[in-house]
Amino acid sequence: MQSVITATGSYLPSVIVTNDALALRVDTSDAWIRERTGITQRHIAAQGEQTSHLALRAAQAALESAGYSAHKIDGIVVATATPDTTMPSVAAKVQAGLGITKGAALDVAAACTGFIYALSVAHGWIQTGIATRVLVIGAETMSRIIDWEDRNTCVLFGDGAGAVILEAVPSGTRGIRAITLEAAGEFAPLLGTHGGVSSTQTAGTLFMQGQEVFRHGVEKMASVTLATLEKAGLTLADVDWLIPHQANARMIRMIARQLKIAQEKCVITVAEQANTSAATIPLALDIARRDGRLQPGNIVAMPALGAGLTWGCCVISW
Ligand code: ACO
Repeated sequence: MQSVITATGSYLPSVIVTNDALALRVDTSDAWIRERTGITQRHIAAQGEQTSHLALRAAQAALESAGYSAHKIDGIVVATATPDTTMPSVAAKVQAGLGITKGAALDVAAACTGFIYALSVAHGWIQTGIATRVLVIGAETMSRIIDWEDRNTCVLFGDGAGAVILEAVPSGTRGIRAITLEAAGEFAPLLGTHGGVSSTQTAGTLFMQGQEVFRHGVEKMASVTLATLEKAGLTLADVDWLIPHQANARMIRMIARQLKIAQEKCVITVAEQANTSAATIPLALDIARRDGRLQPGNIVAMPALGAGLTWGCCVISW
């Protein structure tokens, strides 16, 4: 069996916060944020709107693009660092929201690399016969763990959810070609939250050493892309689309330059959506599918890096 992405969907909260609006809260400017990050705006969840609500809307959009009902789904994996509750999982809530009662449901916590880790879980379920159609969702309400007084971090993030359906398809040329997953906990002090359930009984707020994260991001996302292509028996010349984690437009351009991948082959959504952590890659996949950039047979490389540090890459034949 091949594990093939057969559908995508996404959801962004309706509230948009521009750079100018942020400049009214902290000492920053539209020019600084655009120049350093490429970000122009971010979507922010409304009061009461939770990660599971965003995830459910993205899942429903993916099912609509698949053209079948939720009853065909037999597994749900949600990548998130911002769950509604410590338990149950966001995935279990999505299952209930879809009105289905069969199959596995769990959350994966690997921060901005979460979607790639989640894809690997779903791929494993398909390869071992545990599931045949898995909703893989990246969903975040980063706005809930941001320190809105900290200009170093509050300008970078947004809320949103993207979903794909990973489906067991009899052998063919489409589907996941290779996945690499890495982690190095020694770098935990570079990026994380001050606090958490078992330490402070709160979710905590985000801290980051921006320049160090930037350096690791470029170096590790570039090298893991190369390693994963090699595992797939492919080369950089085979890549039709680079759809990396969207933290910063400068970071993406630098990764592409290091890999000698043309800028036109990069899907970049960070300008309108900012960094939605585990949701950035499925959100970008949905945009690129809907606007026709992704065509059957295209080779797509999806590298990511996040808190942990964790990093990884998935290479697929679309
Ligand atoms: N507005 C205005 N000035 C700011 C702002 C802001 N929003 N934020 C920081 N500054 C100031 C700093 O205080 C500093 O001032 P100082 O020189 O007086 O001390 C100055 O700008 C330069 O700060 P640097 O941190 O050196 O700026 P840099 O060019 O490194 O850009 C940035 C910062 C954008 C955070 C960059 O390091 C970056 O993008 N890093 C990647 C981090 C990232 O995207 N993390 C997301 C999570 S991890 C992930 O998703 C992979």
